[in-house]
Amino acid sequence: MKTQELNIETKNTQVANQLNALLANYQIFYQNLRGLHWNVKGQFFFGLHAKYEELYNEAAEVIDELAERILMVGGTPLHTFNDYTQHASLVAVENISEGKAGLEAVLQNSRYLLGQFREILDVASENDDEGTVALMSDLIGSTEKRIWMLNATLS
Ligand SMILES: [Fe+2]
Repeated sequence: MKTQELNIETKNTQVANQLNALLANYQIFYQNLRGLHWNVKGQFFFGLHAKYEELYNEAAEVIDELAERILMVGGTPLHTFNDYTQHASLVAVENISEGKAGLEAVLQNSRYLLGQFREILDVASENDDEGTVALMSDLIGSTEKRIWMLNATLS
């Protein structure tokens, strides 16, 4: 039992770091969605304005889950704008008001995040970190669904 505990403790630093990089990207994703919600214009305004709001509310919940998972695996969640911009790979979208361009940005961000979930799932799985595996698994499922819906809308 002791060996197993030690094992998990040692290896989870890697998972915590990866989760922090994901958290930083998720904060950019969240703010991108807010910007899209505020800036959208045109004939699909009502639908898109509401959809972006639904998506950023979901993103806020994911952000909290990620931060709390980082604490559970022994890390400290990044929590300043400075840290997020330094650690994120996603680019902030600016002044997108057109519907199609906005949905394409959400699709691109979602694909990037999906790749990151898969990488973390692999490492967490190797480290017998079932809690992180389960969280990544749920996020993969919901993100694949969002990608399918975005693709259907854009096709
Ligand atoms: Fe609003």
